[in-house]
Amino acid sequence: MWQSLSKPIIGLSPMDGVTDFACRYITAKYGKPDVLFTEFTTVEGLFHAPERILRDFEYSEIERPIVAQIYGATPEYFYKAAQIVCKLGFDGIDINMGCPSKAVVKRNCGAKLITVPDLAIEIIRATKQGVADFGKSLPLSIKTRIGYDTNVVEWWMEKLLEEKPAAISIHGRTLKQMYQGEANWEAIAKAAKIIHQTKTLVLGNGDIASLAEAKNRIEETGVDGVLIGRHAIGNPWIFTGTKPTREERMATAVEHAAYYANRRGETRLASLGKHLAGYLSHFPDAAILRSKVFAAKDFRRLEEVLGENRALAPFRNDRDATRFPF
Ligand SMILES: Cc1cc2nc3c(=O)[nH]c(=O)nc-3n(C[C@H](O)[C@H](O)[C@H](O)COP(=O)(O)O)c2cc1C
Repeated sequence: MWQSLSKPIIGLSPMDGVTDFACRYITAKYGKPDVLFTEFTTVEGLFHAPERILRDFEYSEIERPIVAQIYGATPEYFYKAAQIVCKLGFDGIDINMGCPSKAVVKRNCGAKLITVPDLAIEIIRATKQGVADFGKSLPLSIKTRIGYDTNVVEWWMEKLLEEKPAAISIHGRTLKQMYQGEANWEAIAKAAKIIHQTKTLVLGNGDIASLAEAKNRIEETGVDGVLIGRHAIGNPWIFTGTKPTREERMATAVEHAAYYANRRGETRLASLGKHLAGYLSHFPDAAILRSKVFAAKDFRRLEEVLGENRALAPFRNDRDATRFPF
């Protein structure tokens, strides 16, 4: 799958609690990124709470190519999870080695794996073996950071490349940085040089706020593509480089909410908050709109609020955009 994508590759970065089935559906429909990932899913959890498979791995055909992202610390569970991913018909399998969250790191998962490279390698091998024993040739990719507390990206890439992954996505921050400071694209460029001595593809990631910026980063650093995360929330048009009208934003927000509500229930709207804030963030009256939208107790009321406000003042330029709420 990875090798058949045309370059540059511009994909939607996986975000837990954000890039769920509804977000990916809408992003694929209006933004058509070159590749999408599921939110990360714990391999251990897949067996202890199997309902998660249905929740986290639900996808629709429009999202293809769609990659399932998994994380954990137990190679045997990666082996089994790989077979579930194969069975569910995903186009690729990605291992998260970049999550900085305390709960994840405490269990030797996510970015902690950078400090236990032998376990990281064992996990990659177990995942590959699971795919091979299933009888598929699903490509394996890795998403990681430039280091744990310092930038060790060159050493880390050499290590990962020994296992010949199909692609490596690099968020240009260490775990210690979490989301602070700026992503280090110089480090990503150095990594790209090393990776390009092999057949593995490299995607850079961090702070990209527009399609033009994505293209500049690709040109400057020589990566094969980039992943866009936070700036794609409530903004699938970041992938097309077009500016939607207020009406289009409102209509898409309603469609997103309807798609979610149809599958998860008309009153379970809490997880739509980030998306709705994203759709509305470009409007001058965003703050007022947000408070009305967040007060909506069910989908019908939400639809009413968005409908009533569909044709207010036109949105101003990007500089007026309110900041992300996280
Ligand atoms: C709310 C949130 C959830 C995230 N969840 C994941 C995840 O499940 N898997 C993953 O590999 N990265 C995850 N990330 C990291 C993003 O994929 C991305 O690497 C990071 O946000 C930097 O890219 P950006 O500046 O374009 O957002 C998450 C980030 C955020 C903000």
